[in-house]
Amino acid sequence: MEVLFVLALLCLNSFLIVATDDTYNSFVQCLTTNSIPNSHIQEIVYKPSSPSFTPILQAYIRNQRFNTSTSPKPNIIITPLQESDVQVSVICSKKLGLNLKIRSGGHDYEGISYVSSNGPFTILDLSNIRAINVSVEDESAWVQAGALIGELYYRIWEKSEVHGFPAGVCTLVGIGGHLSGGGYGNLLRKYGLSVDHIVDAQLVDVKGRLLDRKAMGEDLFWAIRGGGGASFGVVLSYKIKLVPVPPVVTVFRVEKTLAENATDIVFLWQSIANKIDPDLFIRLLLQPITVKNEAKKKGKTIRASFVAEYLGSADTLLAVMNYTFPQLGLKKQDCMEMSWLESVLYWDNYDNGTSPNVLLNRTAKSVKFLKRKSDYLQTPIPVEGLESLWKKMIELGKVGMVFNPYGGKMDEIPATETPFPHRAGNIFKIQYSVNWDEEGAEATNNYIGQTRQLYEFMTPFVSKNPREAFLNYRDLDIGTTTHSIKSYEQGKVYGLKYFKGNFNRLVKVKTAVDPENFFRNEQSIPTLPTGSRW
Ligand SMILES: Cc1cc2nc3c(=O)[nH]c(=O)nc-3n(C[C@H](O)[C@H](O)[C@H](O)COP(=O)(O)OP(=O)(O)OC[C@H]3O[C@@H](n4cnc5c(N)ncnc54)[C@H](O)[C@@H]3O)c2cc1C
Ligand SMILES: *[C@@H]1O[C@H](CO)[C@@H](O)[C@H](O)[C@H]1NC(C)=O
Ligand SMILES: *[C@@H]1O[C@H](CO)[C@@H](O)[C@H](O)[C@H]1NC(C)=O
Ligand SMILES: *[C@@H]1O[C@H](CO)[C@@H](O)[C@H](O)[C@H]1NC(C)=O
Ligand SMILES: *[C@@H]1O[C@H](CO)[C@@H](O)[C@H](O)[C@H]1NC(C)=O
Ligand SMILES: *[C@@H]1O[C@H](CO)[C@@H](O)[C@H](O)[C@H]1NC(C)=O
Ligand SMILES: *[C@@H]1O[C@H](CO)[C@@H](O)[C@H](O)[C@H]1NC(C)=O
Repeated sequence: MEVLFVLALLCLNSFLIVATDDTYNSFVQCLTTNSIPNSHIQEIVYKPSSPSFTPILQAYIRNQRFNTSTSPKPNIIITPLQESDVQVSVICSKKLGLNLKIRSGGHDYEGISYVSSNGPFTILDLSNIRAINVSVEDESAWVQAGALIGELYYRIWEKSEVHGFPAGVCTLVGIGGHLSGGGYGNLLRKYGLSVDHIVDAQLVDVKGRLLDRKAMGEDLFWAIRGGGGASFGVVLSYKIKLVPVPPVVTVFRVEKTLAENATDIVFLWQSIANKIDPDLFIRLLLQPITVKNEAKKKGKTIRASFVAEYLGSADTLLAVMNYTFPQLGLKKQDCMEMSWLESVLYWDNYDNGTSPNVLLNRTAKSVKFLKRKSDYLQTPIPVEGLESLWKKMIELGKVGMVFNPYGGKMDEIPATETPFPHRAGNIFKIQYSVNWDEEGAEATNNYIGQTRQLYEFMTPFVSKNPREAFLNYRDLDIGTTTHSIKSYEQGKVYGLKYFKGNFNRLVKVKTAVDPENFFRNEQSIPTLPTGSRW
């Protein structure tokens, strides 16, 4: 009985390998038909039995949850070296009915750029498409999808120390996913999102055409600035406008535990964080920690860390803080003046004095198991609410929260300007955050369970109908689609949370540019049901 079972497994296994090689062979055949020389094909298409397959797959996995032997693996990996490779890859994938997963920096929190929960898939890995051309005269740059935001910051700094770009804090994040999904960092209150500074793009559509802004039209150009690129085509590059930054910025990190009046200070933070000078961004991190009390006994508390970026000198920052948020008790010695680029390194946890050259190193320092969720808040949490939240966080044990203040520029941009809808009226966005190192299902269930319980606990305090979420904080808990006949209804569930009123326009664009839903994933924009198309 057992022997038969093993035999059956072996047969199934070899069947799968044959099937995979069939896909590879058919794909190669199609590329050949499209005049791609064999030597070039060898450089850009990998089958599972190739020795390079696993290293290429793992090079841009940024979440250990999807780096296990049971994580679904692609049938082929394609690593284009030039634009035309992307075009012909789309044409052949479409012809063969492959489910293409597009990967740039691989930072998707649910790994959907390189794993799939919907059957066989192929990875189109853009890590070799990563040129960056900065023009200080024009205060703009063309940046390709496979470049990382740290490389972009470096290339801007190389040419000008008084220009920057409003994008994320983690410098290994890829342009392709980050910009198509919104993109924000500590310049958010001053300049808004990355997508608020995109002026042109290059996209390969489902027919394999290379389109710029003019050729794709304003609807599609609108959609790929926050609606997620992967529903519409392969983004090859974006043209962005740079923003001015002063020669000196100031950062600080001030921590308060519950014994140091964290509750009152967090409560007050909610009433100033989105209203203060837009040059000032004060992020708030909340974490349960163990401390020793006066009797030297171990106990649990909450640590509130206020981490700030100020576009100006320490003296002006102290004056601003003195009349808007004196309760934090900011002191001159808490403040560190530096260049904008040094502040990029500071926020990404590099030691003082680290060379900017680290931004050109694409290897991650360490890759952990991660889970994230998000929420938006339009009314402050009352003091009693905060007290119950601390209790809950201490009881859960590990999951933390990050409050990212809005206001400033975010209040000025209409919610329909880009697909990203969370603009005026939001005090802050919450990120639920847990990282861990322990392998195995028990740890995974425990830590993911903690984020879900905390999310459930927060229901009375956060946005409702829909309960809003941030696309770049990908969370499959809020709904997925199987691309069945019901995909529109399924897509509406997460679509309204990520895009609110902009969801319908995204669906219209999607239906117009990719009516057969070739570009799809677990949370892509669905097409309109055939019966209800115009
Ligand atoms: C450690 C870490 C820190 C982060 N910090 C921030 C932050 O500070 N601010 C913030 O806004 N977000 C942040 N994020 C979230 C991040 O912005 C998103 O995960 C983003 O989508 C990552 O882009 P990527 O290219 O690296 O990811 P990928 O995993 O490669 O792609 C993400 C999604 O975009 C699609 N996609 C990728 N490239 C293309 C393309 N060229 N054309 C079409 N579709 C494409 C993928 O198919 C996938 O659906 C962080 C994530 C991590 C893991
Ligand atoms: C993925 O796991 C392998 C071991 O199976 C390890 O060598 C590799 O470093 C891991 N990749 C990442 C990105 O951590
Ligand atoms: C960058 O500039 C070079 C040289 O002018 C050009 O060949 C290339 O296409 C440009 N790349 C991008 C992404 O604009
Ligand atoms: C906490 O607040 C109280 C009253 O507002 C004050 O007396 C006390 O000094 C504060 N404690 C700390 C550590 O700031
Ligand atoms: C802070 O403001 C008070 C008045 O509100 C003033 O007396 C004090 O000098 C100010 N301190 C600083 C450092 O600006
Ligand atoms: C960084 O270190 C140098 C000395 O190594 C010191 O002079 C400088 O003040 C430090 N900067 C910050 C922001 O801590
Ligand atoms: C790049 O970063 C990785 C991870 O921190 C490190 O191991 C490696 O030595 C770095 N490479 C270079 C050339 O500095």
